[in-house]
Amino acid sequence: MSKVPFMDLKRQYERIRGEIDEAIARTLQGASFIGGPDKEAFEKEFAAACGAKFCVGVANGTDSLFLILKAAGLGAGAEVLVPANSFIATSEMVTAAGATPVFVDVDETTFNLDLNRVEELFRARGHKAGGKIRAVIPVHLYGRMVDMDRLMDLCRRHEIFCLEDSAQAHGARWKGGIAGSLGHAGSFSFYPGKNLGAYGDAGAVTTNDEELATRVRKLANHGRIAKYDHDIEGYNSRLDGLQAAVLRVKLRHLTAWTETRKDRARRYDQLLKDTPKLILPELPPREEHVFHLYTVRVPKRDQVHAELKNRGIEASVHYPVALPFLKAYERFQHRPADFPVAARLQGEILSLPFFPEMTDEEQDRVAATLKEVLSSLSN
Ligand SMILES: Cc1ncc(COP(=O)(O)O)c(C=O)c1O
Repeated sequence: MSKVPFMDLKRQYERIRGEIDEAIARTLQGASFIGGPDKEAFEKEFAAACGAKFCVGVANGTDSLFLILKAAGLGAGAEVLVPANSFIATSEMVTAAGATPVFVDVDETTFNLDLNRVEELFRARGHKAGGKIRAVIPVHLYGRMVDMDRLMDLCRRHEIFCLEDSAQAHGARWKGGIAGSLGHAGSFSFYPGKNLGAYGDAGAVTTNDEELATRVRKLANHGRIAKYDHDIEGYNSRLDGLQAAVLRVKLRHLTAWTETRKDRARRYDQLLKDTPKLILPELPPREEHVFHLYTVRVPKRDQVHAELKNRGIEASVHYPVALPFLKAYERFQHRPADFPVAARLQGEILSLPFFPEMTDEEQDRVAATLKEVLSSLSN
């Protein structure tokens, strides 16, 4: 029997092949490989899609985090709050900018930063405005929004900068506001497998702050806006013309793909509800979750994962080791008891095959196989 892939980008390409091939041919003919009209148009279109005033296209989502931190002056001496469950880019760039990541445990229902823990941390530290904690990076993990009302209220009261890591949350909304436009800046990845994915690496910064946008734009292009006018030293982190052309095509399909993701998530919910030993992701109001991933919780996760693989179902784990427990962060000497929820989740979470182009039959097979595997687990 054929496999059910975790995701299949070839299927997506087949469906939009005409538009993509035309956009690539146009870029090649125009020879606008770095910057150019597609990059400029994409920045405007993506800013509008996020409800943000400004967008700067950059080389990838890791750089977009770094450039925002640099542009906001978050370097040596600054502490930046980061959720204990995310991809390493989130914390890695805090260190790269010269600041220190401070991990905060996550909420077991939303999988996101636990805002009670954030408040506790401020209290425990006796934090005052202007103190060491200078920023927070909410990651809208798996496509689900962090409670941005409560978080921004905390940020205002404690005078800290909010960088939304929206790498997994293109188009997700919190009460009408869109991911990437609610904090002081938003960071996006267009890694190919993301909800809006390029055909290579690409990323973007969004913000309503013109000064911050200009600083990011300069930093991403050797400290300049005009050709040899280098106001400051910067980096090379630019969005390719070809990627911008691809992203413009795909952006036109994003809303429809997102709706399909939400329908597929609800379909999994129906197929899998009331399954013993299985915890399904909560389905918040439709707009708050764009389901980059459909992540369930199971006992004996590694065994379940391996059994699914044996039966042709490609699941995945995001992420098998929570950030504080990675070897890369040995220096902090964190223990499971410091982040009890993240410590538990890392052994339970399992992302099921999930992409807009998957078929009902494939979804049925995933659900039936998962039920079979769970019921065969010894207690
Ligand atoms: C939450 C999160 N932040 C940052 C990144 C980094 O993005 P990129 O791979 O484009 O550098 C990713 C993507 O892998 C991500 O999932």
